[in-house]
Amino acid sequence: MKELLMTLSRKEKIGQMLQIAPFFFVKDLKVEVAGPVEALNLDEEKIFLAGSVLGIGNPNEMIEVQQKYLEKSRHKIPMLFMADIIHGYKTIFPVPIAMASSFSPKLAQACARVSALEASTSGIHVTFSPMADLSRDPRWGRVVEGFGEDPLLIGDMSAAMVKGYIGEGYDKPGTIASCVKHFAAYGAAEAGRDYNTVDMSRLSLYSTYLPSYLRALEAGARLVMTSFNTVDGVPCTVNPFLLREVLRGRWGSNAVTISDYDSLKQILAHGVAENMKEVAYRGVTGGLDIEMQSAAYANHLETLIEEGRVEEHLLDEAVLRILELKKDLGLFEDPYRGASSELADKIVLSEAHLAASLEVAKESAVLLENDGILPFNKETKIALIGPYATERNIIGPWHWHGCWNCHEHLAEALVDQTIFVKSDPSVESYSHADVQKILAADIVVLALGEKEWESGEAHSKSNPTLSKEQKELFSWIRRIHPKVVTLLFNGRPFILDDIVTSNALLECWFLGSMSSQAIRSILLGETNPSGKLPMSFPRNVGQIPIYYNHLNTGRPYLGEHDHNEYVSKYLDVKNTPQYPFGYGKSYSEFVYENLQVSKKVFSPTDILQVTVDVTNHSDRDGQEIVQLYLYDKVGRISRPVQELKRYTKVWIHGQEKKTIAFQLSEKDFSYVMPDGSTVLDSGEFVLYVGGSSNHTIETTITLKGTRA
Ligand code: GLC
Repeated sequence: MKELLMTLSRKEKIGQMLQIAPFFFVKDLKVEVAGPVEALNLDEEKIFLAGSVLGIGNPNEMIEVQQKYLEKSRHKIPMLFMADIIHGYKTIFPVPIAMASSFSPKLAQACARVSALEASTSGIHVTFSPMADLSRDPRWGRVVEGFGEDPLLIGDMSAAMVKGYIGEGYDKPGTIASCVKHFAAYGAAEAGRDYNTVDMSRLSLYSTYLPSYLRALEAGARLVMTSFNTVDGVPCTVNPFLLREVLRGRWGSNAVTISDYDSLKQILAHGVAENMKEVAYRGVTGGLDIEMQSAAYANHLETLIEEGRVEEHLLDEAVLRILELKKDLGLFEDPYRGASSELADKIVLSEAHLAASLEVAKESAVLLENDGILPFNKETKIALIGPYATERNIIGPWHWHGCWNCHEHLAEALVDQTIFVKSDPSVESYSHADVQKILAADIVVLALGEKEWESGEAHSKSNPTLSKEQKELFSWIRRIHPKVVTLLFNGRPFILDDIVTSNALLECWFLGSMSSQAIRSILLGETNPSGKLPMSFPRNVGQIPIYYNHLNTGRPYLGEHDHNEYVSKYLDVKNTPQYPFGYGKSYSEFVYENLQVSKKVFSPTDILQVTVDVTNHSDRDGQEIVQLYLYDKVGRISRPVQELKRYTKVWIHGQEKKTIAFQLSEKDFSYVMPDGSTVLDSGEFVLYVGGSSNHTIETTITLKGTRA
């Protein structure tokens, strides 16, 4: 590709660093160019030098755009077509926070595989997924697009999605490249308010917020999207610490860096550039390769080079990465790679793809409460009440081409059990006759939640909880009926208050195209729920941020029996979350016992074997997510009270006992220091194993003879 690069004019090189929307190529620009488009100040020449396109609707549109582009292109370098395929293309899978609840990377990989098969028929080459942003704040709307609060789980899920997109390699059809986002630490926006400032220590970056992006890159992600926030006061889109020191230096990555939507231009608002020429300067020197939907590069880079303020090799490095990506995707051989209406008609929304989505959905719901009321049987008569009883828009935010009203809603899925349906959340709307019907039901199923659009980008909430009206509806139903099953449809952990008094409480998130069928299967016991929370549920907003892998502090509160006044606690709420990370119930009952380790005293070179017996004390087969946590009791810096190191999801038949085995090595006992170095200390470690981060059995082991 270096030879090709050398043939390009400076304008052509700069063109490769521009990404714009497809309509530029198919509309009459004299007519269309208005508003924000006009502000880009792109003439026809610059438009037809652009290197990539954001979003495309269908195979024919892609072919038309690529054809028109290549006809006018001197260099005949095909454009890259990129889009947001976040949890499915047209067959929509559960939102990422729900997929994370399955604790099953293979299910995330299955979602990505189907997404790539479907999206590639529209000629899409790159997806802006996975979102590897760790978050501990449910006020942040984009929690829905991520995998929660734990670095290991996020890393596993992100890597799995990348592998799913790549499939057997770019030389095979039905494969797309992955762009991991948003680099970096976007999920730590202060107060959970989207786009807000991120201010954190190097220790938090290196130990908690950065690892999952690296996992995605190690799995094969070819692009990195920069995030809207600042780190150290420097917008990530122009941040040399992140884009050069970490990405290129520490990680040795040659991934293409791409801005988020006009995030380069936004550095004007951040106040780190006074005009678009300085924006271009900060971008290219900061390490940004492609500018999405703003035109600082297109309009000013050439001048900066002519003035000697920017060295051309910075352009060459960026353009070479872009050309290499296009080559690896086979675009020079086939610029229309994969675009095919015939294939789309055959595979998009196929029965097999919908079945795959249903399987993921079944494992992505989390049973939070159940006094035995669930599962109910086919003869059970239910009153189905609340806004989600007949809501079809439950496939989740960022469903883009997904058809939200093409699939059954809950009332249709539960038609055989339902004797009364009412979606109106206002208590006043229920007549005496309604009440009689409700009382005649064996069970009331309340379908509550937030609107699908209330989570996602720019949709943060100062108080992530149900509306007042829905809470009143719950209280009223709770008063008049003894058996209440509550279903939650939400894109983030909710503060639940009295909702936790439901006889059963099922976190349904937004489960994609097959949501209703999956929920029905769980309610009727055809599926034994196995999901676990990838993110803590706070008791109130005051607890946020609340997360399981916290430090002990110098004055830890030891629980309700600790009457010491001067300890780290609140006067008005417990320290513990309403529901902790890793928590989720099953229709089975799993008991943990006999935790064994191959050595109680071990050395850094040992591979430790850890086994635990898990018995299913029920007659119902079920899956359990067995989790192993580690606590490094003494380190050079204070260490979290526990960190997830292993998990595995296993089927255990009714009354069966299974011995689960894990292996631990030196890497698992090591940790990152504020300077980014990795260290290992001798001393005691506590091993916890269980079905949640707060129900565990434990043993203590000792590491001797570390390489200090
Ligand atoms: C949006 C989002 C990003 C998305 C991009 C392209 O603003 O922040 O996640 O991939 O723009 O649509």
